[in-house]
Amino acid sequence: MNVLVIGSGAREHTLVWKLAQSKQVERLYAVPGNPGMAELAECIEGVSITDNAALVKVAQEKNVGLVVVGPEVPLTNGAVDAFNAAGIKAFGPVQAAAEIEGSKSFSKNLMKKYNIPTAKYEVFTEAEAAKAYIKAEGAPIVIKADGLAAGKGVIVAMDMDQALGAIDEIMGDHAFGSAGSRVVVEEFMDGEEVSVLCFTDGKTIVPMIPSQDHKRVYDNDKGPNTGGMGAYAPAPVGTPELMARVQKEILEPTIKAMEAEGRLYKGCLYAGLMVDANGPRVVEFNARFGDPETQVVLPLLESDLVEVMLACIDGKLAETEVKWSDGAAVCIVMAAGGYPKSYEKGDEITGFAEAQELGCTVFHAGTSCKDGKIFTNGGRVLGVVAKADGIKAAVDKAYDGVAKMTFKNAHFRHDIAHWALERLK
Ligand code: AMP
Ligand code: GLY
Repeated sequence: MNVLVIGSGAREHTLVWKLAQSKQVERLYAVPGNPGMAELAECIEGVSITDNAALVKVAQEKNVGLVVVGPEVPLTNGAVDAFNAAGIKAFGPVQAAAEIEGSKSFSKNLMKKYNIPTAKYEVFTEAEAAKAYIKAEGAPIVIKADGLAAGKGVIVAMDMDQALGAIDEIMGDHAFGSAGSRVVVEEFMDGEEVSVLCFTDGKTIVPMIPSQDHKRVYDNDKGPNTGGMGAYAPAPVGTPELMARVQKEILEPTIKAMEAEGRLYKGCLYAGLMVDANGPRVVEFNARFGDPETQVVLPLLESDLVEVMLACIDGKLAETEVKWSDGAAVCIVMAAGGYPKSYEKGDEITGFAEAQELGCTVFHAGTSCKDGKIFTNGGRVLGVVAKADGIKAAVDKAYDGVAKMTFKNAHFRHDIAHWALERLK
């Protein structure tokens, strides 16, 4: 079968890498892909990932039997609906179901209606009303642009000035464009975060190995939020007891709620959770695989990803075995200096072969290729991933790989997996 992956980041590179291991795959295509994926897939340029008709045309021309839609933007733009209408199997939620990520107010209202544990909140379209609520609630408090903002539309305000400033930035200066014409103001939750992704066919839910992202740009979780600076799996916070509660109190009621709302959810559902003494609560839902989480979760999947994805699409997940390896995986994101604010592009990257020789896999996030050389082309540039028997060995191996990779002003965190390593001590 020919398989098409839509997207251009490290998540999609990981998907292509895992799909390439399937015995069922004949040819792999990516739109638009990236230089890393180009080693495993034919990358098709010049097609916008928001042009559903053009995407369908590519799938038809390439005789594709399975499309995997990576990013939230085409999902919320109805790419899966367009493939379905053309009779092409596509992995991911339809537009109505992707709303669980596309609108934070939709997902918060859903959780309230169906008693799914999450932080207390209010939704505002007027800056003055939002500020009055913030003053009444006090800091710390969390302010979120309603729409998609590439993981950067959330401000965790530790004091009142920062909270009121966030409203000015989102609603006054339109820092996140139309995504910020509505804001969610939310209770600050203290605790440890864990990402639980699951496969679902709309009825059956198969959780993946719990992982942890590192959202802040600097060591010790300092600095602004990013799209994610590194990840590891399994996250020890995701004990079997916790995972059982997540399944019963969060994943099952959410998938049932989506069906009850006429928004049957198929694909990968990402639950970002905060865990404290009372148990897990939802921080956010995403309608897709997480990045960088995917870079550590899929290397631990032993089953054939094509089989699992087709089972999700065909409603046969209950009959499909999903097997995981016992090991651990760690991903260190290497970013361009300055990210998540402005940064330079076009610096040459070296060290791929040396990192691979150590047994690391280097996933491309934001790179370009010219005359056989690879250059930086985004904020998050690479993910260096290592697998080992345990977290500590995987961390050491991943940092050895990072030491081989060079580009100008490369920035990465030195403390990825610190929560897990502290627990092990
Ligand atoms: P989100 O895009 O909603 O996942 O938010 C990005 C990050 O902001 C989360 O991963 C958390 O680290 C943090 N965050 C979001 N909401 C809250 C909250 N209510 N309390 C504490 N931290 C939060
Ligand atoms: N790692 C966070 C996300 O994918 O949204």
